[in-house]
Amino acid sequence: MYDLDMKRLPRHVAIIMDGNGRWARQKLRTRIFGHEKGVGAVRKIVSRCREIGIPYLTLYAFSKENWNRPAREVKALWSLLERFLKAELPEMIEKQIRFLHLGDVEGIPASVLQILRQAEEQTAGFGRLVLSLALNYGGRQEILRAVQLLAEDVRNGRAIPSDLSGDVFSRYLYTEGYPDPDLVIRTGGEIRVSNFLLWQIAYAELYFTEILWPDFAESDFMEALVEFQNRERRFGRTGEQVKSAVPDRSAPGAGASRATRGSRARS
Ligand code: IPE
Ligand code: IPE
Ligand code: MG
Repeated sequence: MYDLDMKRLPRHVAIIMDGNGRWARQKLRTRIFGHEKGVGAVRKIVSRCREIGIPYLTLYAFSKENWNRPAREVKALWSLLERFLKAELPEMIEKQIRFLHLGDVEGIPASVLQILRQAEEQTAGFGRLVLSLALNYGGRQEILRAVQLLAEDVRNGRAIPSDLSGDVFSRYLYTEGYPDPDLVIRTGGEIRVSNFLLWQIAYAELYFTEILWPDFAESDFMEALVEFQNRERRFGRTGEQVKSAVPDRSAPGAGASRATRGSRARS
């Protein structure tokens, strides 16, 4: 049905799940209702990724800037996230999905933090799909944190400034050990990045769709994958060079190919 080459799937897909509020407003419902409906789309896309064998899926669920929303919506979002994680954990275990949180732990309500930790611990041994939820996450904040950790390592003699490379720097990010995203999808019609994975998306293919997140279906996801496969990733080279070269999907400076997060990313 889809003209998809299963051997050239992206290794890492990252999604900015946008448009829940507008979706609800169109139906004359509260924005919160839209967020609740968005959970259904999350379930579908996670299952599809697992089925077809995409090893890393990262979902942007709550940005640092989202704290600026009305308190009622913020509260409802955290409560929804908590319910979602509690409800989904048994299935993640059953389906051997490894769960990881990306973002700042400070500020996250204690009850949410508890279930995040639990989900991380109870799925730590799995690797069929690495599902990451970016929560209380900001790309600039992540880079600043990495610089702080690195500066500390330099001060303690554990790192030497002249040895610093892109690969080494990547290890100080929350996404330590992840391959960089090959494809970033944003639903909801906005053409912007909104502080998502700024370092990691240097060479990602960006895919924007008008579809509002609660309406984003498996078929829409498959369409995005087909378009991804139709793009020519040049990484600075010419089209002629790419056509005559051995396929190479990794961007220069891409991270390692497995999630092997150690103590560095944790704080
Ligand atoms: C995305 O939907 C979910 C979060 C940012 C938490 P929005 O809530 O941003 O929906 P719109 O953009 O207002 O429609
Ligand atoms: C981006 O959506 C953040 C998430 C999807 C979690 P926003 O709706 O917050 O982004 P802006 O404010 O429109 O850029
Ligand atoms: Mg939005």
